Amino acid sequence: MITLCGFANMASGQDTGTARHQDMSSANNKDLGRRIKVSVVSLAVFAMLLVLQQALLSVQISDLVPQQWHSKNTTALSGLTSSEAKEQMRIATARLHPAKLFKIRFKWGNSTPASNSSACQKEKKKKKKKKCKKKLKRKSKSAPNLGPYRTCAVVGNGGILLDSHCGDDIDAKDYVIRANLPALEGFETDVGRRTNMTFVNTNVVKRLNIASKLQDRTRDPYPTRLRHFNNTVIVGNRQSKLVLQTAAWTNQLTLEFWTCKHDLRKNKIINPIASRVAGWRFNSRPSSGLTTVLITSTFCQHLSLYGFYPYSRDADNKPIPYHYFPDDGVDEAIVNRNKHHLPVEFRLYRELHRRGVLTLQEGRCESQENRNTSSSM
Ligand SMILES: *[C@@H]1O[C@H](CO)[C@@H](O)[C@H](O)[C@H]1NC(C)=O
Ligand SMILES: *[C@@H]1O[C@H](CO)[C@@H](O)[C@H](O)[C@H]1NC(C)=O
Ligand SMILES: *[C@@H]1O[C@H](CO)[C@@H](O)[C@H](O)[C@H]1NC(C)=O
Ligand SMILES: *[C@@H]1O[C@H](CO)[C@@H](O)[C@H](O)[C@H]1NC(C)=O
Ligand SMILES: *[C@@H]1O[C@H](CO)[C@@H](O)[C@H](O)[C@H]1NC(C)=O
Repeated sequence: MITLCGFANMASGQDTGTARHQDMSSANNKDLGRRIKVSVVSLAVFAMLLVLQQALLSVQISDLVPQQWHSKNTTALSGLTSSEAKEQMRIATARLHPAKLFKIRFKWGNSTPASNSSACQKEKKKKKKKKCKKKLKRKSKSAPNLGPYRTCAVVGNGGILLDSHCGDDIDAKDYVIRANLPALEGFETDVGRRTNMTFVNTNVVKRLNIASKLQDRTRDPYPTRLRHFNNTVIVGNRQSKLVLQTAAWTNQLTLEFWTCKHDLRKNKIINPIASRVAGWRFNSRPSSGLTTVLITSTFCQHLSLYGFYPYSRDADNKPIPYHYFPDDGVDEAIVNRNKHHLPVEFRLYRELHRRGVLTLQEGRCESQENRNTSSSM
């Protein structure tokens, strides 16, 4: 499964909702009757729990969201200033702050490593090795109390960024967050050159690993891409640790690697938070894009979103490539934009933009410097 802290990734979420068939053919008839009874009872219990959960959820939501936000007609919302709306969002997302959510798994390079698993290799006996690793694990620290930063850019990888001239806007932000080790070289005008934090999913880490084993080194795009992520924080799954540590070591990078303390999906906390923020119910699996926006909102006073766009054609009906950079050519290309929930999430970003909570950059960035060049094209 492709996850970020247990989340389906926006760019590669595979539907894990495949039905699990129970093979009933081997069950004899006596058993069948009992099973039906048991199923009916458990179904009833399940239905009751569901009703209870819905009731609880609606109580939670109505506690935090003003009445008028319940309306599907979000344009009816008025009377909230931008800073009041920001405060609402800050309260709703508070528990997603990195200091509460993340653990530092390793620091590699000039800084001292938070945990050095090779230190345990000396221990010959299995028991001792385990003990040693446990001790190191306990040493891994919570993420620092980041920010708050005044301005942040969350840069998605959507093809909508091509020819956007948003690079200067992005680089002007205090803190820049990206996803999945994208290419920056050659795209600086559109996407900027600075990065402070990158969220990676296991799929991209898998590709990084495959590419690192290619005989023909010219076919591995990651060393070039990684150079731009020197001295940054990478956030991913625990399973990605070894590959990233190896990549940091072979590419001589100073990296910090953070993981989630717990599986967010199991706790089902993103959808209730998104529902509270939006004022309408979120049910589908949240994308890692939404998760990233909610997490970063906890340590950024004003977020600007770039490269978030769920459709395959722009406003002028021009086709948009899936990513602004070419595929890595390592594995099958990741293209999966027809997940139903992405337009719903996009609607939330637009709504938050309207409330003045964040800035959703949809078209080109028309700053002073490039106004002339854009009008001449
Ligand atoms: C939504 O609210 C606005 C402002 O109150 C109103 O003008 C508009 O007609 C409403 N739209 C719908 C579909 O109810
Ligand atoms: C990890 O520990 C080993 C053995 O103690 C040491 O040789 C190595 O330099 C350490 N690595 C780092 C990155 O500090
Ligand atoms: C973010 O990264 C840039 C370099 O890309 C660095 O100059 C800046 O100090 C970093 N900001 C923070 C708050 O760490
Ligand atoms: C990464 O940054 C460190 C200093 O923080 C530097 O020593 C190292 O050479 C850099 N690595 C690359 C590949 O540029
Ligand atoms: C850009 O356009 C503005 C007016 O729109 C003009 O004052 C300025 O000189 C132009 N800059 C360049 C570099 O052409």
